[in-house]
Amino acid sequence: MSRRRTVLALALALVGAASAQRTFTVRNDCPFTVWPAIFTDPGKNTEFPAIDTGWEAAPFSLRTFTVPHKWTAGRIWGRRDCNFSGPPANAADTQCLTGGCAGGGLLCQAAGGVGVPPATLAEWTLDDPASGNDFYDVSLVDGYNLPMSVSTNTGCPVAGCFVDLGPQCPDQLKGPFDATGFPVGCKTACLANLDGTPDNSANCCSGSHSTPATCPNSGVQFYSYFKNACPNAYAYAFDESSGTALWTCQSTFQAQYTVTFCPAQSENFSTPGTATASSTPAGTHALHLANLPSAS
Ligand SMILES: *[C@@H]1O[C@H](CO)[C@@H](O)[C@H](O)[C@H]1NC(C)=O
Ligand SMILES: *[C@@H]1O[C@H](CO)[C@@H](O)[C@H](O)[C@H]1NC(C)=O
Repeated sequence: MSRRRTVLALALALVGAASAQRTFTVRNDCPFTVWPAIFTDPGKNTEFPAIDTGWEAAPFSLRTFTVPHKWTAGRIWGRRDCNFSGPPANAADTQCLTGGCAGGGLLCQAAGGVGVPPATLAEWTLDDPASGNDFYDVSLVDGYNLPMSVSTNTGCPVAGCFVDLGPQCPDQLKGPFDATGFPVGCKTACLANLDGTPDNSANCCSGSHSTPATCPNSGVQFYSYFKNACPNAYAYAFDESSGTALWTCQSTFQAQYTVTFCPAQSENFSTPGTATASSTPAGTHALHLANLPSAS
């Protein structure tokens, strides 16, 4: 091989290493069908996961796929009690009891196809250049619809909510309910509109409550219900301050991630103290993903 070709090969190898994809596995350990969905904001990403935006996961099944290096503000969640056999009734119909996408269908729309709350979300920003970290969390900021965990193959902390928050959910927040009357969701105080002023709400961290300083967890009704049951999940928009909401994994580890619906409680071994609350710039949006540093 000529020197020039050797240099070219080396350059290509370096480019390849820098843009390595990550392997993700989504497991359904629930004893019922879940319809997972994945969202990649087209405004923040130029590359997309190598999987459909939605699929059907039989009980105790798993699916593995790759997501791009620098996947930014990506999310995965589960849809419950879906029936896609007919057309959606209207543009708002999700065809699922919880977690479905507006307009329904097995596939969620590539742009705007996020789960309608209440829905437990798993979220990532990979390879953040400023910090050298992957950021990830399991979030109850949009409410709850399934127990969920995120774990790695590199020993980084396990994020998750291992408890079914439906049955014990406070009455004002409980539901929707399935045909048997079982709650398949638990809304946030914001979503349930308990204070009646969603545009200026301590529950929603909106209006005059839109910063960490003006939206303490003490002002969020039922914060403790969510945080006590699921200490390693995000329980409100600015929950970084708990130290057990937003998790990091050094990007150089190139972790592979596993998302599990209905994770066994044996996975409940997160080590608090490794989250990076202080290194995370405060955001101004109620949706806490805005708090993540953006990968540029
Ligand atoms: C699904 O919806 C169709 C109508 O679109 C209905 O005929 C069918 O019974 C539903 N299936 C279940 C399991 O509810
Ligand atoms: C998870 O671990 C914490 C801390 O040990 C414990 O308080 C909690 O009850 C556990 N949750 C479950 C569902 O086992």
